[in-house]
Amino acid sequence: MDSIWLNDNLFLNSKENFKNLEYDLTTDVCIVGAGIFGLTCGYYLAKQGLNVVILEKEADIASKTSGHTTAKITSQHNLIYKYLIDSVGMEQAKQYLCANQEAIENIANIIKAENIDCNFERQDSYVYTLNENELEKIKLENEAVNSLGFNSEFVTSTPLPFDVLGAIKFPNQAQFNPIKYAYGLANAIIHNSGEIYTDTLVQNIEKEDDNFITSTITHKVKSKYVILASHYPFIDRLGYYFLKMYQSTSYVIAVDIGSKTFDGMYINSEQPTFSYRFANFQGKKLLLVGGADHKTGSKIDLSNAYKILEGEVKKYYPDCKVLYKWNTEDCITLDKIPYIGEFSHFMPGMYIGTGFNKWGMTSSNVAANIIVDRILGRKNEYENVFVSTRLHPIKNNQELGNMIKETANSLVINKFKVPEDDLKNIENDTGHVFEYNGEKVGIYKDKDGKIFAVKPICTHLGCLLSWNNLDKTWDCPCHGSRFDYEGHQLYNPAIRDLDEVEME
Ligand code: FES
Repeated sequence: MDSIWLNDNLFLNSKENFKNLEYDLTTDVCIVGAGIFGLTCGYYLAKQGLNVVILEKEADIASKTSGHTTAKITSQHNLIYKYLIDSVGMEQAKQYLCANQEAIENIANIIKAENIDCNFERQDSYVYTLNENELEKIKLENEAVNSLGFNSEFVTSTPLPFDVLGAIKFPNQAQFNPIKYAYGLANAIIHNSGEIYTDTLVQNIEKEDDNFITSTITHKVKSKYVILASHYPFIDRLGYYFLKMYQSTSYVIAVDIGSKTFDGMYINSEQPTFSYRFANFQGKKLLLVGGADHKTGSKIDLSNAYKILEGEVKKYYPDCKVLYKWNTEDCITLDKIPYIGEFSHFMPGMYIGTGFNKWGMTSSNVAANIIVDRILGRKNEYENVFVSTRLHPIKNNQELGNMIKETANSLVINKFKVPEDDLKNIENDTGHVFEYNGEKVGIYKDKDGKIFAVKPICTHLGCLLSWNNLDKTWDCPCHGSRFDYEGHQLYNPAIRDLDEVEME
């Protein structure tokens, strides 16, 4: 299920620029991952005259999280500023706000400088509520934002097709088509002598004297610096990100509601979350409705995820048509602040940007600027807010407790015992974990009754996987890796496929 951005073929001429890595290379900076974050780092560095090599495991750039976002470019990250003032203080809350406001203008400047045709348009952004209990929070958030020097506004009416009790309006934010933007960045990188290799899976990164050696199965890239831009870091040693972050899956539908469009970008403050924006697609304006989030790998019924979104939009547009559906994964940090900077004190020269908490359009630009400044030896005024090596998120005991509990539960062996005969009783198009010949086996029976069996143990750190009956995937409740029903790895941090199990 691809997003509308990935279904638009108009811009794909530049695909021929990408090829597999077929030889060893030496460069200044090796970037692992060609989503918008990795590409933005590559863009800034190549413009500064550094040699840049970007390695992407997928066949195309920006085809995972960047290609499945709703692509709102805003510093309004739901209700965050009162929380930040209370948790890290006024100064850092203000830096967070300024960094993200500056990111909007940085993106606008790149688009202008490189003449990127990506449907960039200014829009006001709103967090709204329909719930009496949330109204006070909305008012307090608005006061918090004003106290940081930003002109947000508390309003009681919006362009939405329904009445709200209250909303915070952030003026002059923006939205765009993320894939067209990503291709614009890639073209500019190549134009400035950068190199991008796709279908190139990095398996290891090691320090050798003063250099890093980034290895695929067959080739090596030697570099002075490495940037990990692979969504969730696939290297665990020394970073401890798996203790500080989890993944969340959310869903989007693209809906044709006819000609009654409205301006603005929206998200509500309460649960369940609904988010709205319009997007131009093949001559039409489609309404993107997002939400129905859950922790990846949760043992919940996912079959209604798209129906929840559809039901909500049909309240206001009963005749609308849902044209596209997709979902995506985001890394969520325990203290709501992304991890940006040095990967570990023990690996100087290796940098990371992750944990963008569903606000990756501005956060990726903030991250790229901080890391590029570090590489160029420049001071970045916002870097202290995002220090990636911080361990204090672990003091968020409740969330950490949940993660550890989830991990421990998932590592229990022999949890189920299902007689062999019961295999016959599996319904078509469903998946289950069974014990079979003393081994855990993950079985999916397709629509025609064909059985696919895998070892349902995550190849990252060994958690037991959950079956996702909506996408027909095996999902990890610990750190959010996902695998298709044949065991092929889809999302990090795991980088290895599941073991297949032979059925007698
Ligand atoms: Fe870490 Fe599965 S993603 S154990």
